[in-house]
Amino acid sequence: MQSAPARSSGRSVYVREMFARIAPRYDAANRVLTAGLDEAWRLRAIRLLAPPSGGSVLDLCCGTGDVVFHLLRTDPTLRVTGVDFCAPMLARAQERAAREARGAAGFIEGDVSELPFAESSFDGATMAFSLRNVVDIDAVLEEALRVLRPGARFVNLDVGKPPNRAWRRLFNLYFYGVVPLLGGLVGGSRQAYTYLPSSLTHHPDAVHLRERFERAGFIHAEYVPLMGGAITIHVGTRPT
Ligand SMILES: C[S@@+](CC[C@H](N)C(=O)[O-])C[C@H]1O[C@@H](n2cnc3c(N)ncnc32)[C@H](O)[C@@H]1O
Repeated sequence: MQSAPARSSGRSVYVREMFARIAPRYDAANRVLTAGLDEAWRLRAIRLLAPPSGGSVLDLCCGTGDVVFHLLRTDPTLRVTGVDFCAPMLARAQERAAREARGAAGFIEGDVSELPFAESSFDGATMAFSLRNVVDIDAVLEEALRVLRPGARFVNLDVGKPPNRAWRRLFNLYFYGVVPLLGGLVGGSRQAYTYLPSSLTHHPDAVHLRERFERAGFIHAEYVPLMGGAITIHVGTRPT
């Protein structure tokens, strides 16, 4: 595993240390908290990415590698690189690569707001459940755009804000009330699973996030709501 210097602010240090604490039980907690549905959402995001066979894909904030391994299961000819700034999460990804990766998976320790890659390096980029956690969303979107080849897509999967009021109230009860309790039990840190939902509070809603994609320079920016908007996949394309 290679490493690049990480940009450090108070919040990013806090986020990195929090993920280091929950890394050992992160995968199990995900499956429980989403009732296993996160696997289907990741596959949907990969279908929207539609990377070319044999192409190179970058997974930003790869964590323990869920999207990386799904990409390789979907198409073993891909070359997939995961970047994350939390060494214990990457260590889990490396262990999993030894066990379950069929193709070429590489992991790099680094900050996604300063990607250690040259311009136009990748045929596609993904990010899952992470944009809420970064300090500077616009810097990350600009970096994703920079490292993509012209015509390549960036797909971002994350928790969203359901537009329907009744459904939003119900979802918020689960997300802000049940997730901290269940996450504390299964994930091992109630504090972390209280922070994670709260990171949605100041995150832009789907329409505004699409605008941020456009402002960063993506074209054909759109989003696909899943679960009535509780989960959202944003897609943008680097202009040719
Ligand atoms: C909720 S986890 C998501 C992991 C993985 N994408 C998934 O779908 O399971 C968020 C990840 O983002 C990483 N992260 C947050 N901010 C980052 C940054 N600025 N640069 C690199 N990694 C970051 C954390 O270390 C953590 O592994």
